[in-house]
Amino acid sequence: MKFILLLVLTIVSLAKCDIFSCPSSPVMQSFDASSYVGKWYEIEKLSAGFEDNLKCVFAQYSPINGTHIKVQNNGFNTVTNELDTINGYAFVPNLNTPNHLLVALKVPINGFFIERIGKYDVWATDYVSYSLVYSCQFVPSINRKVENVFILSRTKTLNNSVLEQLKAMLSLKGFDTSRLSVTTQDCDY
Ligand SMILES: *[C@@H]1O[C@H](CO)[C@@H](O)[C@H](O)[C@H]1NC(C)=O
Ligand SMILES: *[C@@H]1O[C@H](CO)[C@@H](O)[C@H](O)[C@H]1NC(C)=O
Repeated sequence: MKFILLLVLTIVSLAKCDIFSCPSSPVMQSFDASSYVGKWYEIEKLSAGFEDNLKCVFAQYSPINGTHIKVQNNGFNTVTNELDTINGYAFVPNLNTPNHLLVALKVPINGFFIERIGKYDVWATDYVSYSLVYSCQFVPSINRKVENVFILSRTKTLNNSVLEQLKAMLSLKGFDTSRLSVTTQDCDY
């Protein structure tokens, strides 16, 4: 009995700080990409390094055709004092999970543009004010999962009670929201 209890406790504590497996991603059967396009400001994020010197980050999505969306990510680079822009496209690989997108971005690396494909799961959105985007992939070369989280808003601020509800959703999925950082939005665009 004691052994079983110990085993259960061990499994629970392993699940809590799971560095290997991604949480299940909610499915929004009614997700409508054509309502989702437009401008989104980044309010808080956890991202894998590539926007370290950026503030005033916003994304501009626009329809290309029935399956693809044009993606333009912008941010003011505080080191070069220039607006950095990365272009790409997004699409829904499986119509049964229409809120689970893939984003292909042309990322500049040492003067070359390398196409990187990443997940973009919309966990919650009302299309007109907020969006919670989660992305998680297991990376064999470093033997752990890599997560990205973006809390987005149609305006430069987000209602605090909405923000707390989105964070509560992340917490329920086992994500430590203290890892999020706030994006400064003090530019004229
Ligand atoms: C939609 O646009 C994408 C990207 O330009 C292209 O790869 C794809 O074939 C297009 N699909 C249709 C149905 O036209
Ligand atoms: C924030 O949103 C909540 C409900 O989601 C609403 O009751 C409240 O009035 C909003 N606050 C502001 C300042 O807009």
